[in-house]
Amino acid sequence: MQEIPVFNPASPEGKAISDLFLAVLVICGVILAMISGLVAYSLVRSRARPGAGEPRQVFGNRRLEVIWTVVPFLVLVWIFALTVQAMRISDPAAVQSPDLTVIGHQWWWEIRYAKSGVVTANEIHIPFGERWLVRLESADVIHDFWAPQLARKMDIIPGVTNHIWLQADKPGSYLGACAEYCGAEHAWMRFLVIAEPPGEFAAWATHQAQSAPAPATGPQERGRQLFVQMTCVNCHPIRGVATLVDAAPDLTHLASRRTLGAGVLQNTPAELTRWLKNPQAIKPDCKMPNLNLTDAQVHDLVSFFESLQ
Ligand code: CUA
Repeated sequence: MQEIPVFNPASPEGKAISDLFLAVLVICGVILAMISGLVAYSLVRSRARPGAGEPRQVFGNRRLEVIWTVVPFLVLVWIFALTVQAMRISDPAAVQSPDLTVIGHQWWWEIRYAKSGVVTANEIHIPFGERWLVRLESADVIHDFWAPQLARKMDIIPGVTNHIWLQADKPGSYLGACAEYCGAEHAWMRFLVIAEPPGEFAAWATHQAQSAPAPATGPQERGRQLFVQMTCVNCHPIRGVATLVDAAPDLTHLASRRTLGAGVLQNTPAELTRWLKNPQAIKPDCKMPNLNLTDAQVHDLVSFFESLQ
């Protein structure tokens, strides 16, 4: 069961949800076994046998009726108490200003840090051991933020601001996903929560806050020019190059991230090349069109993007 994230919690909030799930699973399992057993017993005991007449007919039984009303009621009260307890741990009141804002887009995640001003996509870095308050917003439709090992699920609703506590007890990378159907590429709306020692996290944040490095080679420079001249710049910001809009993932430090397309590809030069040649072949219906780039253009763009460490 260690492989199933919900049975392998890594924070007090995640553990509360996991414990509740396990308790309800066991309670329901016992009830299922009891009912199946009674049905099987009745089938065998009252089966048709040669020479046997009708079995004894029963019309009402006060004591049994009281039992099968009171016992389920008590079981429901028990589950209610367990649920309230899990909610108390996993969803305490948000009394401070958020540490970071996560904005759900079709089909990727925009991450904005309150203190450092860092903007990134699909990869949330936090210092392990600290409880961070996350504000959740939507840019378009209803999404749902779910990192099963770390926190409860929380819907992201246009026009409504929700909050969640995000925390990891130990360093590691934890998979998260959108858990509310939000269109064609809902399944490829994944994210990583990377919990690091506080020193490593601070170094990451300082680096991410910097503008993109200047191109150092010919291909990198040509790639930068293509980025500005083609339609890329109409959606993607790169600090230090062009920040017109943030309709698509911020690429300022693209090369430092682990995945592309919200988890659909590993972030390697070969996969980035495949992506740029035709994103629609890899993530159909995603907002990035096939730009029909030539092999030379793709090569220069990959050189430029790989320099964005
Ligand atoms: Cu976003 Cu499903």
